[in-house]
Amino acid sequence: MQTIDDLIAGPGVAGKRVFVRADLNVPMSDGLITDDGRIRAVLPTVKKLIEADAKVIVASHLGRPKGAPDPAFSLLQAAERLAELLGSPVAFADDTVGPAAHAAANGLEPGQVAVIENLRFNAGETSKDDTERGEFADQLAALADLYVGDGFGAVHRKHASVYDLPARLPHAVGLLIGTEVGVLKRLTEEVERPYVVVLGGAKVSDKLGVIDNLLGKADRILIGGGMAYTFLKAQGHEVGKSLLQADQIPAVTEYLARAAREGVEFVLPVDVAISADFPDTKTHAPVTDFEVVSVESIPADKEGLDIGPKTRELFAAKLADAKTVFWNGPMGVFEHPTFAEGTKAVAQALIESDAFSVVGGGDSAAAVRQLGFDENKFGHISTGGGASLEYLEGKTLPGLAALEK
Ligand code: 3PG
Repeated sequence: MQTIDDLIAGPGVAGKRVFVRADLNVPMSDGLITDDGRIRAVLPTVKKLIEADAKVIVASHLGRPKGAPDPAFSLLQAAERLAELLGSPVAFADDTVGPAAHAAANGLEPGQVAVIENLRFNAGETSKDDTERGEFADQLAALADLYVGDGFGAVHRKHASVYDLPARLPHAVGLLIGTEVGVLKRLTEEVERPYVVVLGGAKVSDKLGVIDNLLGKADRILIGGGMAYTFLKAQGHEVGKSLLQADQIPAVTEYLARAAREGVEFVLPVDVAISADFPDTKTHAPVTDFEVVSVESIPADKEGLDIGPKTRELFAAKLADAKTVFWNGPMGVFEHPTFAEGTKAVAQALIESDAFSVVGGGDSAAAVRQLGFDENKFGHISTGGGASLEYLEGKTLPGLAALEK
């Protein structure tokens, strides 16, 4: 893959319009950014281009608007935050390929930055139709002379700005993607053992591919979060009102059997924190019926919302001697303080171990920061959720393949 340095040395970037495909898909609440990690993650690339006197056009998606402008998904806030972090003004175009985007791109002086509006305000960005996507990529290509791919969180998407646009402009891989891929390679090539994988989050169906692949590589797999209940059910436990993907029970049963055959230790919760209702993650209203029960006795009218104290200890013990750890997905509803203990315990165990630890996934990365952990204490906090999982599944990622050509 060509790097930014190659672009600087080769065609040169000074005075040229460089389209940077970033992933500024930051979590927002009531119109405010709650975690700016993904904006900070693209700074090295943007700064490098500024220093090289490029005219920098930053583009991204935010959320999943329906192919048309929707103010709820505007990138304006992200552009303002980028300007604050850079300490210099950032122009904002309130369209993607229209007059505002052209005026912003063509109005840049060397070393200046513009952000264009959410790429998904145009149906061509995510279209499954090659021609429609290609047309949008042509329109984007008209804004710039060069392309830098740095939206690691979106490289698993075959979208116009990720996949089709690099084919239309001289292109290079950005510094963030370079770092992310380097780290993930460490998890797929010569892994230092014991290699422990911690998986959580709501849906087991999102993780099947990665479990399938990791069964041949990891020494231990610890399962928490909403997805644990499908495993517990597969083991014959009643899970009450907890999250359950009943259609995944056969797949999960097969993974448990395969793990046993292949000598991979599969560690499931032994106790859970429960309540009758999902907690209010906005007001943090106290949970009056909070209780910890063994996984053998989850009442029919209650749902599991976090791993319990015995499981926290068990997981910490299973992480203590790890040399490599990959963690994706929170252990419970960490957005409510009553159910954040499991996620905190895993983060704490990673900080205390001397393993090379990779935290992957928007949710787990945001959780680590929101719970007040120092992100520098982890080996690497990935900006990619689905992207890092698909990389570890061994899939070809369209956004990386496009940069290789
Ligand atoms: C993410 O949040 O994982 C990336 O920004 C990709 O977003 P998407 O799942 O909406 O494509």
